[in-house]
Amino acid sequence: MVGTVQGEDTPVMSTQVDVRRPSWSPEHDIAARSFWEKPFLERDDTFRFFRENHPVSYHRAYESTLLPPDEDTPGFWAITKWEDCRRVSRDAETFISGKGILMEDMPEVVTLATTSFLAMDGVDHRQVRGIVSQAFTPRNVRKIDDWINGLATELVDEIIERGEGDIVDLYAKQLPGRIFAFFFGVDAGSDDMYTIMEAAERMLAWDDPNCALGRDALTTFAEEADRIQSIAMARADHYREHPAENLVSWVVNAKFEDRTLDDWEIAAFFSLLASAANDTTRHSIGHMFRLFDENPDQLALLREDMDGRIDTAVEEVLRYASPVQHFRRTAAKDVVVNGQEIKAGDKCVLWYCSGNFDEDQFDEPRRFDIQRKPNRHMAFGAGGPHFCIGSALGRQMIKASMQEVYTRMPDLHLTAPPEFQINNFIHGIHAAQAAWTPSKRSA
Ligand code: HEM
Repeated sequence: MVGTVQGEDTPVMSTQVDVRRPSWSPEHDIAARSFWEKPFLERDDTFRFFRENHPVSYHRAYESTLLPPDEDTPGFWAITKWEDCRRVSRDAETFISGKGILMEDMPEVVTLATTSFLAMDGVDHRQVRGIVSQAFTPRNVRKIDDWINGLATELVDEIIERGEGDIVDLYAKQLPGRIFAFFFGVDAGSDDMYTIMEAAERMLAWDDPNCALGRDALTTFAEEADRIQSIAMARADHYREHPAENLVSWVVNAKFEDRTLDDWEIAAFFSLLASAANDTTRHSIGHMFRLFDENPDQLALLREDMDGRIDTAVEEVLRYASPVQHFRRTAAKDVVVNGQEIKAGDKCVLWYCSGNFDEDQFDEPRRFDIQRKPNRHMAFGAGGPHFCIGSALGRQMIKASMQEVYTRMPDLHLTAPPEFQINNFIHGIHAAQAAWTPSKRSA
């Protein structure tokens, strides 16, 4: 049997070491909370070690603060290669989502109440996704492109005179916040809009002291989800009576295969949406600021030919940022992945952040290269039925921001290192102080 011995991390042939209970050295212990306090590229040193030596490796249960593990809590398989992530993600009959979607466990009732069709399989998944998916087709998103571009212009108008400030707070949070305020049917700039934005950030960063604010992780998650759901449900009741042109109204009144969503499903969908859509996009835009700050040569290239390079630049921001670092599946039957036997019931964590830096797929993966082509990143997932429903919308928000900010605030630069969230799920930027030359709105 192949296993590892404490401190060595080299595979040893042993009859004593159980491959399902290996001990990785602290450097390679992705199940330790402290691992997630390290910088992203340092973490990728560890993922690279696994990609090269143990592409499918078993780990003890994560030191979760959501549902702290005991001795018997099963660990998880880490799938670290691009090719294996794709294979697992596309085989949704063997690798299911209904048993949990994160590497750490959470009480089932919380999963059910907050994750909607992200944590469903088969017909249930198809139906609920079918009800909401038409709103997010590329064709529909193209219709709202102009609206998104207009919002980006408005935001730059609002902040350009300041010349400095936390660009995450001033811009990266605001654009998706305003867009999702519209989707929720609440007024842009209203208290409800800020509540949704704040709750979405805190809900997905239960391990981060800035978001937990002294609460335990589960309370943080549940309370913040509840804040989002209360607003969505109040709006849902209203739009049932008074249909209007926004997503809440549309989802409340929509039918797919003769089925409508019940109140629970609506509440779960909107907490999924607030987090899956709002938070991911906001962090992608935050990473865009820090990546161009770290790579001024790439910013110069972009500015030299904005129209010609912006689309590949958006893809490279997404790859490099890997805003969603993992999603989990559970094996529904015994299966072999990349030579490794996996038993029915085992958790399999797809490390998209590792797949996006896989040397077998990306030439010099640590080079931020806005002209990278092809760029088959897995920022939106690795294919299969759960592939991100909002990828076109997410891309457009990053593109509009890139275009507007780097045309009108070309010397924007960070004045202090960005503050990253401590988070094994979302690769988040909490704050980033920046400065730029103030100037009047261009005519
Ligand atoms: C840059 C921004 C975004 C990133 C990086 C991102 C990433 C992801 C990822 C990795 C998944 C899971 C894929 C899988 O495991 O197969 C996902 C699913 C999902 N995303 Fe996004 N997303 C983004 C923006 C959005 C937006 C704007 C929306 C909605 C408007 C959205 C809605 C969803 C939904 C509803 C799912 C669940 C799909 C399913 O289970 O069938 N996302 N997203």
